[in-house]
Amino acid sequence: MLAVAVLVGLVACSDDSATTEAPAQPEPEPVDRDASLREIAADSGLRIGAAVDADALQQDPAYAHAAAIHFNSLTPENDMKWSVVQPRRGEWDFSGADALVDFAEEHEMAVRGHTLVWGQDVGNGMPDWVRQIRDPDELRSVLREYVTTLMSRYAGRVERWDVVNEPLLIGGGELDRNPFFEALGPEYIAEAFELAHEVNPDAELWLNEHSLEHLSDKADALVALVADLIEQGVPVDGVGLQTHQFSSSLPPPGAVEDVLTRLGDLGVEVAITELDLPLDEARDLDSQAAGYRQIVDECLAAGCAEISVWGVDDSRTWLDEFLGGGPHEPLVLDADYQTKPAYDAVRDAILATQASP
Ligand code: XIL
Repeated sequence: MLAVAVLVGLVACSDDSATTEAPAQPEPEPVDRDASLREIAADSGLRIGAAVDADALQQDPAYAHAAAIHFNSLTPENDMKWSVVQPRRGEWDFSGADALVDFAEEHEMAVRGHTLVWGQDVGNGMPDWVRQIRDPDELRSVLREYVTTLMSRYAGRVERWDVVNEPLLIGGGELDRNPFFEALGPEYIAEAFELAHEVNPDAELWLNEHSLEHLSDKADALVALVADLIEQGVPVDGVGLQTHQFSSSLPPPGAVEDVLTRLGDLGVEVAITELDLPLDEARDLDSQAAGYRQIVDECLAAGCAEISVWGVDDSRTWLDEFLGGGPHEPLVLDADYQTKPAYDAVRDAILATQASP
């Protein structure tokens, strides 16, 4: 806000300079308060993304329009997950993923491929048939087939992938003992990155994790894990922090910037990949906006390459099911696709970085 106000002030004063002897200053760009997030992000070379659902993109023109005008990047919320693409062994379904990638191309948007290896047992994670494979060679072989099939199908069209999602325990810094860990050992993480690199050496390969901004032990563990992978020469290009906020407490000030800066110092790109912040008794639209501003400011200060929210609008959010109750209204567009104070907060945060020298 302050930086925007200063810039507006500069524009207002610029006429006076013609009557003085002061050397000519370049005219500051007027601030366009009506510009969309997508337009503003373009000036920063920033990806501003949203998780989307392919059926909704195809069936709801208002949803598709909102996605295309406000964002320049899409993440398939579920359409590239194993349980959707290969729900039963040998049965492949690319209909949702194909439609989503076509939509992105038509609207000149990037796609964040999500997600190749996700061992958690929630929602559309790993299907049972994969979960039941105990033999390491067999699991390696289905993993190779899956990663090769998906990455090759979209090569040149999807060039940023979440290769490993949520490798750590939900509430701590140990590696999650998911079926990949149990069958292949902790090396499954390095193996997945090596495999993805072999399939598409041009793709950016990311690791994605949650709650680091609330759990300092988990943040330390993830930084150590990524440092170790880099040390071994594993091709990790980026690390995403999900930043779903499930409770009224915001992350401690500085926590997002701290962990992303430590990761960036290891030489990887960083991003916020799944931001949402529900309303509740203690959080109204303005405090929601303040929360968005805090998290996005810190991400940008750490040099984020991307900020993605987990859904287009408040009428379709996983939190209504995951948390129960609701509506939780955690996104930057309301259920009628109107921009919320949270939207302005993200926009102001990006504009502030463009105004600073
Ligand atoms: C969620 C989807 O939003 C839900 O629709 C689905 O039922 C379960 O998965 N972390 C992730 C995302 O990396 O893939 C999850 O998405 C939310 C938590």
